[in-house]
Amino acid sequence: MINNKKTIFSGVQPSGILHIGNYLGAIVQWVEMQNQYNCIFCVVDYHAITVKQDPKKFSQQILDVVKIYLASGINPDKSIIFQQSDISAHTELAWILNCVAYMTDLNRMTQFKEKAEKNKETVSVGLYDYPVLMAADILLYNTDIVPVGEDQAQHVELARTLAQRFNNQFGETFKIPEVMIKKIGARIMGLDDPTKKMSKSATSVANYIALTDDPIVATKKITRAVTDSGSEIKYDKKAKPAISNLLTIYSLLSNKSIEELEIKYQDKGYGVFKKDLAEIVGNFLSQFQKKYYSFKDNDIREILQQGSKLVEPIAFKALKNVKEKLGLL
Ligand code: AMP
Ligand code: TRP
Repeated sequence: MINNKKTIFSGVQPSGILHIGNYLGAIVQWVEMQNQYNCIFCVVDYHAITVKQDPKKFSQQILDVVKIYLASGINPDKSIIFQQSDISAHTELAWILNCVAYMTDLNRMTQFKEKAEKNKETVSVGLYDYPVLMAADILLYNTDIVPVGEDQAQHVELARTLAQRFNNQFGETFKIPEVMIKKIGARIMGLDDPTKKMSKSATSVANYIALTDDPIVATKKITRAVTDSGSEIKYDKKAKPAISNLLTIYSLLSNKSIEELEIKYQDKGYGVFKKDLAEIVGNFLSQFQKKYYSFKDNDIREILQQGSKLVEPIAFKALKNVKEKLGLL
């Protein structure tokens, strides 16, 4: 990639369920960036195995993430798409960064604290170390910008810290990446509990709309979504977290501003608003899935192979430089 464009790096875990939070919070902004930047989008399979995965389903889940990327509008002729475990430089750099990261850095990570809380006895070392592997992903490619949802901001901050610390100790090596978070939609909340983010690991499927949900099922999930007290359609995260979340989803899927929607539904109640939103979500999913199901596994494998070929020399060149700085070479 010898040009003057800045480099974007981001990734999604192939953990089975991708929901509209992943799409609206992260993937959508990648699509718009493809013309302006060198884009690298990774399927972070090593991150996904920090929690249990079913080996019988896992290889398909990896392909399915790529299908989600393509159905969202990521163009493999413009952007590089590859599988993390294909490039061993990621785990090698992660080890090196493990020796730069402090336990105190990782002890601060809120996502680990939340996840570990649920499974105290059996939480893996990998889950604890996950942000260091993410830092390696980012730093291998001289990344300028990391577009992610709000929950990943702290992890990108750690990547910055580790890059700076390494540079201070061993001389200028890594570019310091910037996080990019959307103004609207960076934290889509659960439909059953608008005080917590929409999450694939939620206990109830009513929490999220999966990108592969049957449109009829998704329509029902919207109709049944929790609302707030009162009847006014107004954006107010504190007083009306549920309606604010639904307004955000509506706005992003319809390209209408939240103000426009507030006016449109001024004298109408929650029922009418939710019915319209349900239709919009159903239509979006139908169109999305038409594309999603049209891709063939073999073509996806080909895309991943081509992607790996392109990133491999970049990643190993960066790793060699790091090893030299450490006196390993
Ligand atoms: P993951 O599925 O954890 O690999 O997340 C993939 C991307 O989706 C990351 O950039 C996350 O920050 C983003 N993301 C996950 N959940 C949400 C959510 N509820 N709202 C907005 N973005 C999200
Ligand atoms: N940890 C991110 C998530 O769960 C996924 C991820 C792994 C990532 N490596 C990355 C995102 C590098 C951006 C850049 O969403």
